[in-house]
Amino acid sequence: MKKLGLFYEGKSKKLYKTEDKNLLITEFKDDFTALNAEKKGTEIGKGALNCKISTQLFHILEAQGIKTHLVKILNDTTQAVKKVTIIPIEVIVRNTAAGSLTKRLGIAEGKKLPFALIEFYYKNDALHSPILNDEHCLLMNLVKSESDLEELKRLAREINSVLKKFFETRNIDLIDFKIEFGIDYDGNILLADEISPDSCRLWDFTTHEKLDKDRFRQNIGSVTVTYEEILKRISSTV
Ligand code: TMP
Repeated sequence: MKKLGLFYEGKSKKLYKTEDKNLLITEFKDDFTALNAEKKGTEIGKGALNCKISTQLFHILEAQGIKTHLVKILNDTTQAVKKVTIIPIEVIVRNTAAGSLTKRLGIAEGKKLPFALIEFYYKNDALHSPILNDEHCLLMNLVKSESDLEELKRLAREINSVLKKFFETRNIDLIDFKIEFGIDYDGNILLADEISPDSCRLWDFTTHEKLDKDRFRQNIGSVTVTYEEILKRISSTV
């Protein structure tokens, strides 16, 4: 499969057209952005680590019946994926308070939540990705119907339940994560984008060490070192 013209460039990935109109190639970049792209950085090898981690996590989800856009990994930094129309809602699932939840509601970082909290944010950088309730999503026609919103919530809970259990077997605490969904040619809702330490908070279960992009956001230290640790842990047989 060959990369043809650039289809879309995001902050951490590039999407290329292919000879097949229903397939794209995703290339994971070494670039980081945070704080609504105000903070930028690059670490060689980050893209390859995220490509491998996300591929493995999508395979685990597929094995549990979650439909995703992933077709196959092509090399260290690229995947073949089904072309989808991205639903412009960032779905965030939280198991433990951290990040914007602690700032917005004053809940202490590290407090376990009594249930998995699902939040929707508008995927719009110009508006700084504001939080949305269900009615905002419908008002803005971000989804076709209320039942699509319910489906996003159901899928988000299911994905959380699979990943949380899996990470626990690797001594990793899944604190929260962001996912995106797309609609394919046949109208199916598929998990799209990526799931990686760029889009998740992952803490060591025992020491609570941060093993994710918060290291970049908070200038804690090298990012790729801990992304390698995540890849090693999820690849090992237990
Ligand atoms: P938040 O606490 O900043 O709202 O982030 C919650 C989770 O979502 C965290 O794991 C980071 C992830 N996330 C992204 O991947 N992209 C984003 O643009 C934002 C705001 C959060």
